[in-house]
Amino acid sequence: MSRYEFTKRLETGNSIIDTEHKELILAVNKLLDACSKGEGRSSVDGTIQFLNNYVNEHFSHEEQLQRQSHYPGMAAHKAFHEQYKKTLKEITSRISQSGPTIVELGRLNGHIGVLITHISTEDKKLGAFLSQT
Ligand SMILES: [Fe+2]
Repeated sequence: MSRYEFTKRLETGNSIIDTEHKELILAVNKLLDACSKGEGRSSVDGTIQFLNNYVNEHFSHEEQLQRQSHYPGMAAHKAFHEQYKKTLKEITSRISQSGPTIVELGRLNGHIGVLITHISTEDKKLGAFLSQT
C-alpha cells in the first residue's frame, strides 16, 4: 500500500495551511497503516475518527482565511469541502463497518488523490491570493 508524502509541489506558501496539510497527510498514512497491519477495529476506528475530525477542522480554518480575506473563489471552494467531507465520511464508515476491503481501500485512495489534486490546484490559488493581501 502506497503512502502519501508532502512534497514541494503541494506547498501553498501559507504556513498555517501548509502545516495543516502535512498533519493531514500524516493522519491519512496512519489510517492506511492501521488498515494494512490488520491492527484491529479499535485502532482503525481511532485513526478514522481522527482523520475526519482533522479534515473538518482544517477545512474550516481555510474557510475562515477565505472569509477574512474576501477570497473571490470562496463559494466554490466551500462547496468542494462540503462534498469532500461527506464522501470521506461515507467511505470511512464503510471501512469501519466492513473492514478495510480492497474495494473500500481503493475508494479511499481515490478520494485521497482528489484531495491531493485539490491542494495542488485550488489551495495553491488560495495561498497565492493570501500572500497578496
Ligand atoms: Fe481547500
